[in-house]
Amino acid sequence: MTSRITKAVIPAAGLGTRFLPATKAMPKEMLPVVDKPAIQYVVEEAVAAGLDDLLMIVGRNKNALANHFDRVMELEVTLASKGDEAKLAKVEEPTNLADIHFVRQGDPKGLGHAVSRARKHVGNEPFAVLLGDDLIDARDVLLSRMLEEQVQRNASIVALLEVDPNQIHLYGAAEVEPTDEPDVVRITGLVEKPAKEVAPSNYAVIGRYVLRPEVFEVLERTEPGKGGEIQLTDALMEMAGDVEGTGGVYGVVFRGRRYDTGDKLDYIKAVVQLAADRDDLGVDLRAWLADFVTRTP
Ligand code: UTP
Repeated sequence: MTSRITKAVIPAAGLGTRFLPATKAMPKEMLPVVDKPAIQYVVEEAVAAGLDDLLMIVGRNKNALANHFDRVMELEVTLASKGDEAKLAKVEEPTNLADIHFVRQGDPKGLGHAVSRARKHVGNEPFAVLLGDDLIDARDVLLSRMLEEQVQRNASIVALLEVDPNQIHLYGAAEVEPTDEPDVVRITGLVEKPAKEVAPSNYAVIGRYVLRPEVFEVLERTEPGKGGEIQLTDALMEMAGDVEGTGGVYGVVFRGRRYDTGDKLDYIKAVVQLAADRDDLGVDLRAWLADFVTRTP
């Protein structure tokens, strides 16, 4: 199977309870990272990797997400009449990125449940999943590498990040064995949010996946797991065993910059890092930060 993968599923229906009260009336994926909502970075990443058919899984605050990728005539007309082309381009940018479809998750019954809501749209072809609160720095390569691996191995692919063992309880952890390719491992087991003592490794599964469509059948029969939620990790665990010829699961180890904008500290780091690297803000922000650090006991 060598046909090009075109579809991406972006789950953005979580409750975002770690960010309350900011997320009371707004999805966490709409939190601005400098001057763009997190979700726009994720959509840009999918498009840059050649995925142009996007399905967003949305929850009770759907409108903010849908509106962000829609036109806003009033704003466009006002900016056009003022001749403010730069700001007009900023308004139009998200609208012109890709063909975006939306489906409601209904009850937020977990990431696995959110992904299963994409079945009808995706059909019988491999597809990518990008978590809407997980940012991969646009200067580092990940998704296109994973898409290549999927085509080459005809398997399902997850992204892995080596984390401090003290942090592994926050992630799905992978049991792995090497392949003959650097930074590609075969996954032999997965455990959702394990205690450090029982974690199979410090390879954490992060929010990028390229999956074979058989995952939908597996998710259908996946019982609620940790936290009473239907876990994507549990379905991938079954596929890693390759019991029904689903090609197994491989991991691509990512060594670049990644920010979890659903976590407060990581969110703040993302804003500071990305602003510090920008031409329009970097010089002033770095100078202020240096001064701030010397003034802080
Ligand atoms: P998280 O576990 O980080 O999301 O889900 P959460 O439950 O919203 O976070 P907290 O712990 O309450 O703060 C990872 C990704 O899966 C999506 C989230 O939107 C996020 O992109 N998700 C999670 C869903 O779409 N539906 C769900 O039922 C759960």
